[in-house]
Amino acid sequence: MSRIRELPKVELHVHIEGTLEPDLVVELAHDQGIELPYPDAEVLRERYVFADLSSFLDIYYANLDVLRRRHDFARLAYEYGARAHLAGVVHAEVFFDPQAHRSRGVPLHDVVGGLVDGFDDARAEFGVTTDLIACFLRDRPVAEASAVLDELVDMSAPIVGVGLDSAEIGNPAAPFAEVFARAAALGLRRVAHAGEESGPESVREAIEELAVHRVDHGIRSVDDPGVMAQLAAHRIPLTVCPLSNVRLRTVADLASHPLPHLIEAGVVVTINSDDPAYFGGHVDDNFLAVAEQFALTDDTLAQLARNSVTAIFLPQERRDTVL
Ligand code: ADE
Ligand code: ZN
Repeated sequence: MSRIRELPKVELHVHIEGTLEPDLVVELAHDQGIELPYPDAEVLRERYVFADLSSFLDIYYANLDVLRRRHDFARLAYEYGARAHLAGVVHAEVFFDPQAHRSRGVPLHDVVGGLVDGFDDARAEFGVTTDLIACFLRDRPVAEASAVLDELVDMSAPIVGVGLDSAEIGNPAAPFAEVFARAAALGLRRVAHAGEESGPESVREAIEELAVHRVDHGIRSVDDPGVMAQLAAHRIPLTVCPLSNVRLRTVADLASHPLPHLIEAGVVVTINSDDPAYFGGHVDDNFLAVAEQFALTDDTLAQLARNSVTAIFLPQERRDTVL
């Protein structure tokens, strides 16, 4: 629907690794002589049927094997910028998972340098601007997250914030409080995945222990009126990813997605894609899906898009140049 594509959008919840399309997996593997355990991109895509978050993460991390060289990361970032432009995205704050590459022996310098190269090219060609948020993996040791933060600081990595992602159940946020406090002292913003698979107590923990500025997903907040009130009163935005929630079965179907309840309760809701190569669509497709499912008016759609603008981490002087 053109009314959605034409809405200027900011994307706040997209993992660059989750934009790795099957075609690019196969191309990069072929280019480097990496043998894949499936014959082609179509067969890989057919495997994208997920029972839950962890069954998705298994495939997501396995596919990263083809990202080895600086220019692999540059290509990934450029392709996202090009597709985001088509979706009407003018600015994106993009997650990356340093530990998922460092643990495979890829220098963080190549990861960050490649992403910056690709985003620079995409900005020059399409005008889409991007900032980077480094996510710590909550199912890995806190000491590793701390070492990654040190490494990013030592290399002056151009990140605007830190996040927390990967398997939520059984991996609470609280142990990361010290790393997040250190990031705060360095002037970095904070976000965390919470209330995606776990309940509203996980959202409260991210707010209270990590002092996050935004909560990624956060949809299970609807199960606790106290958490809903906390989000609304403090205007803590949620970066909601409806197609992801359907594909990872955190909701039974789109019709039962809590989005309308979150909006109704006055929570600052934003719409995003999460891992578009895996979940059937980019941010425009997510807008389209909820617009149709819930018969959202143009005013509501515009408000959702505006919410993302209010939730970005750009300083005022840069906001005026990109938005
Ligand atoms: N990493 C990539 N996508 C994720 C998601 N939806 N939840 C947690 N970690 C992730
Ligand atoms: Zn995510």
